[in-house]
Amino acid sequence: MPDHPHLVQLDHVSVAEAAAWHQVVVASMAHDLPGVPPPAPGQIHARLTKPALDSRRLAWLATGADGVPVAVAGLRLFTSPGRDHLAELELHVDPAHRRLGTGSRLLSAAVAACRTENRRSLVVEAPADSPGEAFCARWGFRRVLTLEHLILRLDQANEGWLLQSDGAEYAYRLTGWTGTVPDGLADAFATAKNAMNDMPLGDLDYGNEAWDADRVRAMATVVADRGDTLLTVAAVHDDGTMAGYTEIVLPHGCPTRAQQYDTAVVPEHRGHGLGLWVKAAMVRRLRAEHPGVVEIETDNAGDNVHMLAVNHALGFRSYRRTHEFQLDVPAT
Ligand SMILES: CC(C)(COP(=O)(O)OP(=O)(O)OC[C@H]1O[C@@H](n2cnc3c(N)ncnc32)[C@H](O)[C@@H]1OP(=O)(O)O)[C@@H](O)C(=O)NCCC(=O)NCCS
Repeated sequence: MPDHPHLVQLDHVSVAEAAAWHQVVVASMAHDLPGVPPPAPGQIHARLTKPALDSRRLAWLATGADGVPVAVAGLRLFTSPGRDHLAELELHVDPAHRRLGTGSRLLSAAVAACRTENRRSLVVEAPADSPGEAFCARWGFRRVLTLEHLILRLDQANEGWLLQSDGAEYAYRLTGWTGTVPDGLADAFATAKNAMNDMPLGDLDYGNEAWDADRVRAMATVVADRGDTLLTVAAVHDDGTMAGYTEIVLPHGCPTRAQQYDTAVVPEHRGHGLGLWVKAAMVRRLRAEHPGVVEIETDNAGDNVHMLAVNHALGFRSYRRTHEFQLDVPAT
C-alpha cells in the first residue's frame, strides 16, 4: 500500500477539516456534475458535525504528501430498528488524484466499518455514465435503482394547475406550516408519513421507517439545526385524516434552489389529484413567501410513474439521472 495519500478517520470534525472536505466535494462535483450547485461550506460543516435523524456518521479524509486534501468518504449508519442493517456511502476523490487507488482504499475502510457495525447492505448513489458507475461495477456493487432528477423553474410552472386552488369538492382543505408540525396535526402527519413506505425503491434494501409524532418533530429539529428551512403543505380530510402532504427544504447558503423532500398521498385518498394539488399549493407558497427561490429539484424512482406524471404536469423537466448501487456485505 502506498503511504500517500494519508487516510485518517475524523473524530470530532474541525472547521478546517470541514473546509478540506468541502474543497474535495466542490472539485469532484465540478467534474462529474457540472452545473449542479455544490453544498456551501456551512452545509458541509453542519452535515459532518450535527446528528442526522436516526443515524450516526463516520468520516474519513485522505491527504497528499503536502497535506492537501485529495479524497473524502462519509458513511451514514442508520440506527432505527427497520433500517439498522444499512449504511450509506458518500465518496469523492479530487479529479486530479483519481485512478491511483485512493477511492478503493476509502471504500475498504468503509466496508470494514460496515462489518464492525453489522451492516449487511452498503448503498451509494452515482451519476449515470460516470466514473462512479465504473468504480461501483469494479467493486461488485449491483445497480438497484434509477433516479430521475427533475427541475421545475418556478417561473415556468404550469399556470393552469397552479390556479386549481379549490379542493372543497373533495372535502379536503389545505394547510401548511414552517418547521415543526403544529401539535394538533402531529399524529395525523406521522400517520400520513407512514404512507411513504410503499414508495417504489427497485431492489434497494432500504427497510422501513415507522413514524410517530416524536419522530416527525425530531426530523424538523434536525433540519433546523443544520440551518435549513423545512416547509410543508398538507391536504386534510373533513374527518381529520391527513390525506397527503409535500415537503420542501430551503438549504442554508443555497437560497435559489429548493430541494423536494417527501410527497405522499395515503392509499385510501389516492386518485383525487391530491398529489398535484399539494405540490401546486407549495409552488404558490414559494412564490409568495420566498421570492428568492428560482427552482425546485426533485428525484423520483424511474418506475414511479404516478409521481413522475404529477411532476411533469406541474412543469418539471428532466435534469439528470443517477443510480443507486448496493453492495452485499457478508458477515465475517
Ligand atoms: C468513483 C471515484 C470515487 C473513484 O475514485 P478513484 O480514486 O479514481 O478510484 P480507484 O483509483 O480506486 O479506482 C478503482 C477502479 O475503479 C474503476 N474505475 C474508477 N474510475 C474509473 C473510470 N473513470 N473509468 C473506468 N473505470 C474506473 C477501475 O477499475 C479502477 O481500477 P484501475 O484504475 O486499476 O483500472 C471517483 O471517480 C469520484 O470521486 N467520482 C465522483 C464521485 C462519485 O461518483 N461517487 C460515488 C461513486 S462511489
